[in-house]
Amino acid sequence: MRSTFSTRLGAIAAAAGSAIGLGNIWRFPYMTGENGGAAFLLIYLGAVLCLGIPLMIAEFMIGRTAHADVAGSFRKLLPGSRWYWVGAVSVFVAIVILGFYSVISGWTLEYTWRALTNDFQTSVASAQLVTPDAQASQVLTMDFNAFATSQLPPILWASLFIAINAFILLGGVQKGIERASNILMPILLLLLAMLCVNSLTLPGAAGGLRFLFEPDFSKVTGQTVLAACGQAFFSMSVGMGCLIIYGSYMDDNTKIGKTALSVAGLDTMIAILAGITIFPACYSYNITPNAGPSLIFITLPSVFVAMPGGYFWALLFFILVALAALTSTMSLLEAEVTFFDETIGMTRRRAIMVSALITWVFCVVSSLSLGVWNDYKIAGLNFFYFCDFITSNIFMPLGAAAISLFVGWKLDRQIVRDAITNRKEDSGWYLMPLIWALRVFCPAVIFLVFLKGLGLI
Ligand code: TRP
Repeated sequence: MRSTFSTRLGAIAAAAGSAIGLGNIWRFPYMTGENGGAAFLLIYLGAVLCLGIPLMIAEFMIGRTAHADVAGSFRKLLPGSRWYWVGAVSVFVAIVILGFYSVISGWTLEYTWRALTNDFQTSVASAQLVTPDAQASQVLTMDFNAFATSQLPPILWASLFIAINAFILLGGVQKGIERASNILMPILLLLLAMLCVNSLTLPGAAGGLRFLFEPDFSKVTGQTVLAACGQAFFSMSVGMGCLIIYGSYMDDNTKIGKTALSVAGLDTMIAILAGITIFPACYSYNITPNAGPSLIFITLPSVFVAMPGGYFWALLFFILVALAALTSTMSLLEAEVTFFDETIGMTRRRAIMVSALITWVFCVVSSLSLGVWNDYKIAGLNFFYFCDFITSNIFMPLGAAAISLFVGWKLDRQIVRDAITNRKEDSGWYLMPLIWALRVFCPAVIFLVFLKGLGLI
């Protein structure tokens, strides 16, 4: 008997755990700031509603109907067809995403450790002993670069991270994933709420809030719309079957529409709270919120060094990011594990070992490609950025379009109707809008995102 989540809340916690991750805590605030604040936020909400939610429902539906791994689900629903390959490719995509995602996750462990040992403060103070006018942000930039490009430490942290993931998955669906999510998600919410309240009480917080919430429609272009769509996909974990797996652990009475709404709501809320935490803090200390990885690994430590009680808040913040990353990587690893378990036919234990090992190899290469192997380029990018690029710009949009077309056109209409109405128990009023979103609207928008991602329009 295949396992299922034991409660509805457990299913929501696990799926929300997958969705809430690095995508919410650094990517979203920075994208919002760069793209016109509230104007971007409105478009993002539109993308979550019109694109993200239909796709999430589609993934849950495939999984919950087939109760199988990603590849197996397609095979079960449409036996003998080539749709099976969409699932098989998704597993490969999970491996690639996990390869670089666990490198960044490893960094969050190093930074939790640095926060714990008060390293930001000590490092800045000792640099200022030698050069009194050294800026905290310069010192922390050097520290970050030295760490990220070094060989052993990032690999060790990422290995530890993968090992923790494997350990949780060994517990199975209910005692591993569900239990971990039930414990970690409330902690995550609590930590973020505390950080958020602290940020709002800082002097000058209003500037940060304006940066985040004041609409600047002059910055909105076609590019903004596409950026919002891309962000919605990544943040909601749609487009590569992670949620098919979690859907496959839902029992047949779970309302997939409601679950998708809850998960999407939580994911969006956490992203906005992360913005409310980060920007007021930056503004209060006159530090410009920079783009990219440096936002949480350089800018924020500079803020924490200057903030009263910074030791405490830094520690809370990095624990928060590490936990968010953990529940996301669990879902990616589980997508691999179920494939090796159910489609290839290994035992779960062996599937976990094999998945962890393959992931680890990708992760080592990704990490080294930022330092000693930086000169080996594929299409002009080092391995780390190449993996990031092909997954988010090519495989995920294609996967999302395939899933959307599959449910919209291929899947038996009765199956779709039964899934949405829970075999006529619910009204399923959104059946028709959903079908048409999946048939036409989503694939069309995704196609545009795809062309844009490749720089073709
Ligand atoms: N959604 C996660 C985040 O916001 C990352 C993630 C987990 C993901 N599983 C995924 C992204 C599947 C794309 C596809 O950080």
